[in-house]
Amino acid sequence: MNTDVAASIYDYPKYYDLLFGSDWKAEYYFLRGCFEKHAGRKIARIFEPACGTGRLLIKLAKQGFEVAGNDLNPKAIRFCNARFARYGFPETATVGDMSAFKVRKKYDASFNMINTFRHLPTEASAEAHLNCMAAALNRGGLYVLGIHLEPTACLPMQEEEWTARRGNLVVNSYMWSKGIDRRNRMEHLGLHIDVFTPSKRMRIVDHMEYRTYQKSQFLSLLKRVPEFEIAETYDFSYDLKNPIKVTAATEDVVYILRRK
Ligand SMILES: C[S@@+](CC[C@H](N)C(=O)[O-])C[C@H]1O[C@@H](n2cnc3c(N)ncnc32)[C@H](O)[C@@H]1O
Repeated sequence: MNTDVAASIYDYPKYYDLLFGSDWKAEYYFLRGCFEKHAGRKIARIFEPACGTGRLLIKLAKQGFEVAGNDLNPKAIRFCNARFARYGFPETATVGDMSAFKVRKKYDASFNMINTFRHLPTEASAEAHLNCMAAALNRGGLYVLGIHLEPTACLPMQEEEWTARRGNLVVNSYMWSKGIDRRNRMEHLGLHIDVFTPSKRMRIVDHMEYRTYQKSQFLSLLKRVPEFEIAETYDFSYDLKNPIKVTAATEDVVYILRRK
């Protein structure tokens, strides 16, 4: 059977988790390394804003960290909590907006790895998010924030592909830029997810809007949340031995923000 559905990949947590969860190791070890190298305190409690399926939270929980997260999508949160429960952890993921939340007890570290921050559509929501994060973290705590900047000295990357398999289930994805609305600083992206099982092929036809950030735009936003300092910058190769200097040609950056 062959079907095309116009939908969001976030409404298919099983396929999302296979696609983005398969490649967890580099991010996971990078996060652990950052906690050791850059935090000004011992890391015990970790919060992930917009955690989705919690593909990294579950790995951290299994290593003894106390973890929690939020996400707008109830299906992703259900998936995340069901997996926590399956492994005997509390169901600490909640439906919530990463630009309007409060925590009862502060955390020591947090992370937002793959451009999710760019889902926040306006400067006001991005600033509100950083303020929520500052309020959620203990002093010396970290916020590891990975985003693609819009380079000003070269053309940005135009497309990306991923593939993942578990048993008979194969998920391929292809994402491409449909262009940037410069006045509103919004990048329009197309995304096709092809799902194959022995009996069906389904294509999820998705569309995403990502706010754009040039280096100077990100830095001017950050300046308005003085509780954070930049402890270091890396790229998406997640190599702790090779911090990078962000230039006009830099595209992928992981900002290690430390709570003052
Ligand atoms: C690319 S996924 C990342 C999920 C997870 N952080 C990961 O690394 O796999 C983006 C997630 O952001 C969530 N999201 C988008 N806007 C949000 C918002 N304002 N507040 C909370 N979650 C949001 C989506 O529902 C989706 O689960």
